[in-house]
Amino acid sequence: MTATPPYRVALIGCGRAGLPRARAFDMHPQCRVVALADTDAENLEFARAAFGAPGYDSYDELFANEQIDIAAAVLPVAPNAGAVAAAAEAGCRAVFCEKPLTARLADADWMVEACGSRGVPLVCGVVISSHADYQKAYALAAAGEIGAVRRINLYEGNGQGGCHGLNLARRFAGRGQVDCVIGRVQGDPHSDYEQAHAEGAAEVGAVGGYIRFANGVECFSSWEDVGWRGIEIIGTEGMICNSNNTGLGLRLFKSGARSAGLREVEGVFSEYVEEDRGYDEEGWRDPGSTMKGIVQELVDYLQGGQPPGATSGDDMRHALEIAIALRESQRRGHAAVELPLADRSLAMYPVRARWEYKKEVYGREWYMEQMTMAKKP
Ligand SMILES: NC(=O)c1ccc[n+]([C@@H]2O[C@H](COP(=O)([O-])OP(=O)(O)OC[C@H]3O[C@@H](n4cnc5c(N)ncnc54)[C@H](O)[C@@H]3O)[C@@H](O)[C@H]2O)c1
Repeated sequence: MTATPPYRVALIGCGRAGLPRARAFDMHPQCRVVALADTDAENLEFARAAFGAPGYDSYDELFANEQIDIAAAVLPVAPNAGAVAAAAEAGCRAVFCEKPLTARLADADWMVEACGSRGVPLVCGVVISSHADYQKAYALAAAGEIGAVRRINLYEGNGQGGCHGLNLARRFAGRGQVDCVIGRVQGDPHSDYEQAHAEGAAEVGAVGGYIRFANGVECFSSWEDVGWRGIEIIGTEGMICNSNNTGLGLRLFKSGARSAGLREVEGVFSEYVEEDRGYDEEGWRDPGSTMKGIVQELVDYLQGGQPPGATSGDDMRHALEIAIALRESQRRGHAAVELPLADRSLAMYPVRARWEYKKEVYGREWYMEQMTMAKKP
């Protein structure tokens, strides 16, 4: 492996999301995209032309031929587990994998173990929970800025294995163990599919309920009862909240004298503004501040710094487990379900267009238009 930068980056999955993720690495002065793998020859060629790196039609072949520092798996969700395990086994020093992590708890365990047992950080997804302002908010909550965190209100459907809201709630609860959950789902609790993969098949739909963490923090999660998607972290002396689906626009409130109620503390977090994701002179769309932040954290880590604070594979494994446990509760007549779940064969599959390859789901014309949104030809 490379002792000094530039760090050698491999992109596994050179599709519509893979190109901008790889671009974020390639534009960092201490990283270089040096190898590409994709089962679709057309996408592989597109990426080869964009990065000027050798292409392989499987990640096994790539790892057999290349020494890689950072592997980025940006695949349909189905092949994620095998690709992440292969990257760790091949000696990569850090792995990035898009979200959702996977569908089956046993596969999540495999991915986390394959990386963790080798001391390899596994960062998962360009998700708002990795945004610098959210990382600041976790630190403030942990440092007692809003007193002791007591309760978390979550307003969202917790799709994709809970990789947004449930993961955020757990981060604010100190990444602690969940004691038990009592849950409900919008659709059929006996389905394994968040959204049906075939016409007429059953789907789980949204997932919510009550989550009690071992440290006493309680989370209440519901969908469609308010007109926004958001989170409120309630402490004994204040509140942190957000009501949009970006990392921006977090707000901090602190309690004054008892009768004065909550007052807002200004200037702590960035204000919500639409991110200007324009194109640069090479035709690349800006990969976005969260992804660029993840790249920087991985570089800092490889240079001897702290493990990344961005959302990890283990975070996503726990979020998936909570989502499945909420559904499991309804399967058992809304009984309380204790975590960790013993049955690791339990699964919750994301929508078909995430689990499978989008070009096959939506067709080539739609797909190639999407490719040119990441980089103009
Ligand atoms: N964080 C976000 O905001 C965000 C946005 C978009 C996509 N995503 C995630 O990124 C991932 C990829 O999304 P996408 O739209 O690029 O997916 P996609 O369906 O376009 O597939 C990506 C690429 O993977 C290739 N591929 C499929 N199986 C492979 C295998 N076994 N080995 C090597 N290559 C293989 C395909 O040929 C394709 O080029 C998904 O998990 C998606 O959920 C995240």
